Amino acid sequence: RRKIIIDTDPGQDDAAAIMLAFGSPDELEVLGLTAVAGNVPLSFTSRNLRIVCELCGRPDAKVYEGALKPLNRPQVTAEHVHGRTGLDGAELPEPTMLPQSTHAVDFIIDTLRREPEGTITLCTLGPLTNIATALAKAPDIAGRVKELVMMGGGFSEGGNITPAAEFNIYVDPDAAKTVFASGMPIVMMPLDVTHQLMTTKARVSKIAAFSNRPAQVLVEWLAFFERFDVEKYGSDGGPLHDPSVIAYLLKPELFSGRDCNVEIETQSELTVGMTVVDWWHVSERQPNAKVMRQVDADGFFDLLAERVARL
Ligand code: BDR
Ligand code: CA
Repeated sequence: RRKIIIDTDPGQDDAAAIMLAFGSPDELEVLGLTAVAGNVPLSFTSRNLRIVCELCGRPDAKVYEGALKPLNRPQVTAEHVHGRTGLDGAELPEPTMLPQSTHAVDFIIDTLRREPEGTITLCTLGPLTNIATALAKAPDIAGRVKELVMMGGGFSEGGNITPAAEFNIYVDPDAAKTVFASGMPIVMMPLDVTHQLMTTKARVSKIAAFSNRPAQVLVEWLAFFERFDVEKYGSDGGPLHDPSVIAYLLKPELFSGRDCNVEIETQSELTVGMTVVDWWHVSERQPNAKVMRQVDADGFFDLLAERVARL
């Protein structure tokens, strides 16, 4: 079983990722879930995270609260996609679970130092503020991580919050820069992958076929989440970004990509938050990430439906 920490800013697609992880107990052991400010402020991402744990029948899960805002910049949020709470679309009770008293950054550091080297996978589904803060406080953890698998960035696909930048990287580009420079083994799921993961009616109907409460709530969340793309672009569904990270841990053969150098733009007003991916190895810069580009989308949605059905 892979031991993982999920760092997240739920977000309906984050919720789907967490459901996929909790629905896969044979393969994944979720040591803790750390909330970060992102789609909505931290008070909401922490609340939403606990709502998802309770919905999945996991009130025993450990939830930690992390960064309140990006390292050096004002907060940017995405209520236009996720709604006021970040998890609009379904009626659910307020959580009764409480967050742990330890700060998310300390939990990440303590866990990486306590567990054997090379055994912990970090799964990041939001801005990288918590991870960069942990690296600044405890640089030794970089060498202890098995892999950091992130949803973030985009290259041939462009950006989704500015023409050049993807939301998670744009919100805290300084944090992303620290992470890409850390030497941790990184797997990156950019928009190039996640824009292939559209929540089409045919795919969502496979999830809707299951009568368990988590599957039904996920369908309601997806209906809310996709309306932004459906209304703006007339697409059949919206791109289900974050579960790609968990799906990669379960079935890496669904994805393909290359080892590339990735640098983060932090200066330019026009392109701040851009992930400059050297796909063609035109520079001398050394690869620092496995950048995914293709996914078997139907295989991904079958996996998601199968695992959510188990919750
Ligand atoms: C990313 O930004 C958030 O809105 C989603 O949850 C996802 O992590 C996509 O750009
Ligand atoms: Ca997210």
